[in-house]
Amino acid sequence: MKEITYKNKPRTEPVKLPEPLGFGVYFTDNILEMDYNTESGWHNLQIKPLENYSFHPATLFFHYGQVLFEGLKAFRQKNNDIVIFRPEKHIERLNNSARRLCMPTIDVDFAVEALRELIAVEKDWIPEKKGESLYIRPLMIGVDSALGVRVSETYKLIYLLSPVGAYYAEGFKPVKILAQDDYVRAVRKGTGECKTPGNYAASLIGSEMAKAQGYSQVLWLDGVELKNIEEVGTMNIFIIFKDEIVTPELSGGILPGVTRLSVIETLRGWGHTINERAVSIDEFVEQYDKGNVVDVFGTGTAAIISSVGELKFRDKIMKINNGSYGELAIKLFDHFTGLQYGEIEDTHNWFVPVNSEVPVS
Ligand SMILES: Cc1ncc(COP(=O)(O)O)c(C=O)c1O
Repeated sequence: MKEITYKNKPRTEPVKLPEPLGFGVYFTDNILEMDYNTESGWHNLQIKPLENYSFHPATLFFHYGQVLFEGLKAFRQKNNDIVIFRPEKHIERLNNSARRLCMPTIDVDFAVEALRELIAVEKDWIPEKKGESLYIRPLMIGVDSALGVRVSETYKLIYLLSPVGAYYAEGFKPVKILAQDDYVRAVRKGTGECKTPGNYAASLIGSEMAKAQGYSQVLWLDGVELKNIEEVGTMNIFIIFKDEIVTPELSGGILPGVTRLSVIETLRGWGHTINERAVSIDEFVEQYDKGNVVDVFGTGTAAIISSVGELKFRDKIMKINNGSYGELAIKLFDHFTGLQYGEIEDTHNWFVPVNSEVPVS
């Protein structure tokens, strides 16, 4: 492990978590920051107080979009152990995003180790109720300052932490989604499989249109033919037909969700067959009309499982499970929250412990 400089101020008073926590509203006192340049690689690791940044207006990332991020969670389990969910998968995905955007990759073990150190320092910020968590936002930006489109030579990687409330504080609630064919979010061989702000910026107009019609998220279709179902706003999608469980294959336009992977592995472990294949919106409508759509749900770090109670495509409104949630969705949700809270044994070794004894200087 490279040396970390601890610049965090000693905590003089116990952390008092705000109520309600919501999502991404509150942040812990300290961040971890490191720098990159071609001579030294990643260096200058610091755990330091969260403060505003100051950048020259010509800094490359503002203009040409060399920005990527990740989103993962740490949990306080019922016996007070602190664990992070599959951090190495998130860092691998960060590296995939980095390769596509000509940004530097990072050694996975080193990046996870640095994260464990920060979380150990900020552990008092992790809420304790089942379903609550510490959301972790790694962020990488290209910080050369000069105008002109080119690859930056210097970067910052920042870990930002935010205690978040339970997603379903008011009970497991199905969402209504709108399939969108006026706009696309990403195209194959573009940046759809990266976690980079441009994809989210491109999706905003569709989300606004969906909201105006009373739908909470967009179901995106592929960006080439506007035919195949890709993913929902911030979730991957699973469809349960009468005789098949399907999730869209990773076409290059879809973010490869860590929850998606974990749900596939769990369902396979439970003896289900999951087919990763192209599913067109026309096939979905046809199966719906035949009464063959049993359930639809989304998967993602924020909600884990989000049941879809209604899907609209053009003028067709399709109620799923009478607008309620399906059995498998709720079973998966209970399973994953049970794992997070330490009530169910982690047989896959998905959760990485945080050593809470790290000295804080
Ligand atoms: C566009 C998009 N798709 C899918 C997901 C789900 O990915 P994960 O399960 O890794 O959170 C997310 C959330 O990160 C997302 O933003």
